[in-house]
Amino acid sequence: MTIQREIPIAKGLPFLGNTLSLTSDAIGFMTRAYHEYGSVYRVRVPGRELTILAGIEANQLLIDLGDEYLKLRPIYGTLVEETGSDLYLPTLDEPEYSYYRRMIKPRLSRETLVDYLPQAVQLISDTVQRWQPNESVRVQDVMTRLCVEIISHSAENTEVGEELASIIFFTNRLIGSGVAFQPAFLLKLPNYQRAKHRFEAFLQRIVDQHTAKPGEKDDYVDLLLRSKSSDGKQLSGHDLLAYVHLPFVNGVAYAPRLSGYLLYELLRSPELLAKVRAEVDAVFAEGELTVGSLRRMRWLYGACMEVLRMYPVAGALPRYIAKTFDFGGYTIEAGQQVFIATGVTHFLPAIYRDPYRFDPERFFEPRSEHQQSGAFAPYGLGSRTCLSAGMGEALIMLIMATMLHHVNLELPTPDYKLKTKIAPIPGPDSRFEVRMLGRRSPVPAPQM
Ligand code: HEM
Repeated sequence: MTIQREIPIAKGLPFLGNTLSLTSDAIGFMTRAYHEYGSVYRVRVPGRELTILAGIEANQLLIDLGDEYLKLRPIYGTLVEETGSDLYLPTLDEPEYSYYRRMIKPRLSRETLVDYLPQAVQLISDTVQRWQPNESVRVQDVMTRLCVEIISHSAENTEVGEELASIIFFTNRLIGSGVAFQPAFLLKLPNYQRAKHRFEAFLQRIVDQHTAKPGEKDDYVDLLLRSKSSDGKQLSGHDLLAYVHLPFVNGVAYAPRLSGYLLYELLRSPELLAKVRAEVDAVFAEGELTVGSLRRMRWLYGACMEVLRMYPVAGALPRYIAKTFDFGGYTIEAGQQVFIATGVTHFLPAIYRDPYRFDPERFFEPRSEHQQSGAFAPYGLGSRTCLSAGMGEALIMLIMATMLHHVNLELPTPDYKLKTKIAPIPGPDSRFEVRMLGRRSPVPAPQM
């Protein structure tokens, strides 16, 4: 049945439409619009009108509707062009999509971190031990360096070193112009072209080093080198590089931003910080940190999940409507791009009690507020959900546990409010700093 009703258009300014609201607090705006207009509404930005689907039923669409209805390839043409590969995972349709996703998943999971974990702890503790008392450190610089270095070592047995700046530049521009509506001409500018060439040369060196010493660590790149494309050929050229690049681009995008928010939330709540510290110190007192011991830190886990809920850095996911369907009393026509505002459910009081309160206990049993189907979607939902959610979570917890164990830090002022900036996705202001108060050595005996 096709329903002939006009989708409501959210109120906005004459020329700018909803641009200011979308660029200052996209999920806040989309949540308010959901309460005002319901689960389907349109927003305007100069030159474009977009349909937004929001709420638990919209999130459920990602779980229930397959590739036949919701696709990414028609809107991700830029990603195909910029990677030079027709096989770039997020742009694939079925059945190729499932084939390549299954192929790479085993080497991009939580377990990928296991072998490198002791060195990762060392890297984090060396980083914080270099800070001097009273020194202020830029949080996002530190978090990005640590996340990307740890992912690169664990998955690709490679040090990032001086390549980080071009990886960050490339990633932000690719996401900005390829996914987040920044102008396409930015991809032609020399600064982007330089970053892209340098990043590609780095990826090629990783491939060459692995080819020279095949199977040395049996890591993600070794897996790619022995894998075959869906038509039985060896992966090579830009197709191979597009897969070697995935952990870098995804490693820059989300985990560093969430690590920054987590540090902020812990430092602004001394009571919660003390609880997290007590379990962190207890784990370090037992010996080496392991993936298993990370899992046992319930306060740190709850705080990490609460950050994923309250700071949806990917809170609206684009989809191309490949086949018309009815939803929320409207017809969603084929041939258009929509956004599924997955982060809106994170702020609905019917799902999360007092949703604007930072409350890690909502993830503890028996409350487990996130367990209702479609309620919690920081990684997307359904078949295209984040491939490395377990790895991302373990990484954030690992960085935070090791930092808090070794140093005392404080916010610039007791009532400091961290601003979110869109660059090109939401994240902590790059000027966010914390002050080093001193090293925690010897570390006090844990009091549980
Ligand atoms: C904790 C931080 C992370 C968050 C919140 C996150 C979130 C997401 C989201 C929202 C998507 C898109 C889902 C969609 O379009 O439906 C995604 C895709 C993906 N993520 Fe993550 N991610 C995180 C960390 C990582 C890390 C560390 C890696 C790799 C090392 C990774 C690898 C991927 C890959 C390969 C995809 C594409 C999956 C596909 O197209 O099948 N992510 N992630």
